[in-house]
Amino acid sequence: MSLLCKNDYVESVAATRDKRMSWWRGARFGMFIHFGLYSQIGRHEWAQVQENVPLDEYEKYADTFNPKPGAPREWAALAKKAGMKYMVMTTRHHEGFCLWDSKANPYNSVNHGPGRDIVREFVDACREFGLGIGFYSSLMDWHHPDAWKCAFDKNARDRFNKYIEALNTELLTNYGKIDILWYDVASPLTSWEGWNSLEMNQRMRALQPDILINNRSYLDEDFSTPEEHVTASDKDWEACMTFNGLSWGYMDSAQTVNYSYSPQQIIKMLNKCANGGGNLLLNIGPKPDGSVPDDAVAPLTTVGKWLLENGDAVYGKVIRNRNWPDFKFGGNGVCGASRKDNTVYLWNWVWPSEGSMAIGGYLNSPESVKFLKDGRPIDFEHKNNRILLKNLPEKSPDSTTGITVIVMEFSEEPVYVFASGYPQLHGGKEYK
Ligand code: GLC
Repeated sequence: MSLLCKNDYVESVAATRDKRMSWWRGARFGMFIHFGLYSQIGRHEWAQVQENVPLDEYEKYADTFNPKPGAPREWAALAKKAGMKYMVMTTRHHEGFCLWDSKANPYNSVNHGPGRDIVREFVDACREFGLGIGFYSSLMDWHHPDAWKCAFDKNARDRFNKYIEALNTELLTNYGKIDILWYDVASPLTSWEGWNSLEMNQRMRALQPDILINNRSYLDEDFSTPEEHVTASDKDWEACMTFNGLSWGYMDSAQTVNYSYSPQQIIKMLNKCANGGGNLLLNIGPKPDGSVPDDAVAPLTTVGKWLLENGDAVYGKVIRNRNWPDFKFGGNGVCGASRKDNTVYLWNWVWPSEGSMAIGGYLNSPESVKFLKDGRPIDFEHKNNRILLKNLPEKSPDSTTGITVIVMEFSEEPVYVFASGYPQLHGGKEYK
């Protein structure tokens, strides 16, 4: 295979990006799964190094690893119910244990523990539930003898590069069409040259021409991955979030539940994603037997119910909003916003019980305003660059979460200027 130089590669990837990413850009919501030997320990997926567990002691977890049959189906069923559109699973986390029938790495779930190919089960489950399939693959490895020597020993680096590529080649060859390759932690090497990322990723793309690759192999590739914060950027981005701010791997749900996200907090994150044109990859760390952690079930189920009625505000091609001070559209203090074409969605976090609500800053008038969930029209007027919604019910009409979405449809592009009534915030400019 002839390989491109860096500039040509970047260009060729950019040329197919819109086509490859169209499903992902509208998908908005995915499930991250952190599952591995560390799930048995229940004290963070980094326990091996955080606690300095000797390697031979840690390896024993490979033989006690025993996910129940059908566990990935449970994850996929919940993801579907939650309104998620794709899943990304740790096929091999930093601990170096492969969850598939690897020929390159005998430390795997077919030779040890369950004697099964968990990646295969995951792929089958995603397909059964119509979810996009993502493979997380760590670059850093705490098990392979060359994985730390590679930083200063050229032969070790060559061997380790080959090893990592062999693993990813298996993953992208043996399981049919795969949608996402999600690299993580490119340590100890410090450059794409070190990891051979340019060459490796070209060969990965040759195996899976439609694949999306994240930005963690020192090349920007297709999308960036803000971690534990939902922050918009100008290019494609996906925020990855733990469920509790504590750990990606399993921890005792009875104790983490007080740190876990409520449905309202998850919807708030989805709003930030819809507003800023990114995705939310929300993690669950299954229990040692593979079942879904208890604290995730109820919130995700509620979010899924909410999405059944409010999905229009979330999925599909949104207009990416700018940050302060150049919003392209906005809400007010009690509601956030998102936009698709000429439609603005107001996400009401706190219901205005006085029966009316004003949204300042819109220089033109919507054509119609209604509730998203049932299409009921809302009375409104547009005066002095503010939209006044009238005769609103006393209580939020949303019974699942209290978050009601209002739709404002414009016949042309909404024109929005934050605080348009306050010239002191616009260098004295007055908006008529
Ligand atoms: C981090 C951690 C890791 C986790 C990942 C998810 O970089 O090392 O444990 O898998 O983030 O984004």
